[in-house]
Amino acid sequence: MRAYTPLTITDAVLEQMASTPDPRMKEVMEAAVRHLHAFAREVNLTPAEWIKGIEFMTKVGQACTPARQEFILLSDTLGLSALVNIMHDKTKLEEATSASLLGPFFRENTPTFASGAQIAKKTEGVEVVLFGRVTNAHGAPLPNAQVTVWQTAADGRYDIQNGIEEIDCRGIFRTDADGNYLIQTVRPLGYFIPLDGPVGQMVMSQKRHGMRPAHIHFLISAPNYRELVTALYLAGDAHLEDDVVFGASGDLVAEVKDGDPACPIKGLPSIHFDFNLARESEDDKRAGRVGADPAAVTAGNGQTTKPYGAPPAEIADAAGPKKSGIFSGLFRGR
Ligand SMILES: [Fe+2]
Repeated sequence: MRAYTPLTITDAVLEQMASTPDPRMKEVMEAAVRHLHAFAREVNLTPAEWIKGIEFMTKVGQACTPARQEFILLSDTLGLSALVNIMHDKTKLEEATSASLLGPFFRENTPTFASGAQIAKKTEGVEVVLFGRVTNAHGAPLPNAQVTVWQTAADGRYDIQNGIEEIDCRGIFRTDADGNYLIQTVRPLGYFIPLDGPVGQMVMSQKRHGMRPAHIHFLISAPNYRELVTALYLAGDAHLEDDVVFGASGDLVAEVKDGDPACPIKGLPSIHFDFNLARESEDDKRAGRVGADPAAVTAGNGQTTKPYGAPPAEIADAAGPKKSGIFSGLFRGR
């Protein structure tokens, strides 16, 4: 029987996991264990701190509902979403518009609008026109590209923050034959990320301001092109440099202009931005998005009340001869 030390325990875990058949799963899990153990050793993690961490992650899970994704918010505020996004963006086949975060407020249930329609039901605040072209990396127009937008209402809140039934300030549009898109909306406000949950507690305990600069999310797709998940950040916002989720970047800052002669709708302030899509690679088809509709992530919603089930029969049988004793039932199939 070997005695583990703070160093050999890591090797023992890696040895036991070495049977993982999927090579990528093996690589990811081995690195996760090595780094997790190194972290615990570096800070000399105490039992009280360890259970505090477990309690925190439990609260993050409990805060998740079909309308709220606290884990994505955690990943966003720790910069992990931005890191994965930046790494993914660097793998595109050709220079094109930069990606930005999908964030926790995207939802699949989004109405479709005709070009030029207003997506905000309540148009208090400043009405703004969004227009421009969707092209390939060389500037050729992409007709019939799908352009999905979502943003806060003029009060700085997303519809989904008021309940899953409310749908506002989001819409799906198509580009015309010349690749043009045209959308009417209201000027979004910078906002606090949700601070009423465990992630908010963490952010506040770190004395961070918890604000995102005003922005409009875009998800743009066309057949054979890499899906573009991005956002436009409004020039002049006070939090462009210190976005709490690290999403804002200089090349995605857009100016709201008055009386732009190029704007197809006259008399309203407007944002003109052209998006370029990179061609899609084989890897892109499997890459997925950094983010998802909370309802899709929370399938089942953790509502099961079953305590512990038996292991699958084939696993229990492979574990060897049936043992007797008080734990025997735990390791048997049906
Ligand atoms: Fe957002």
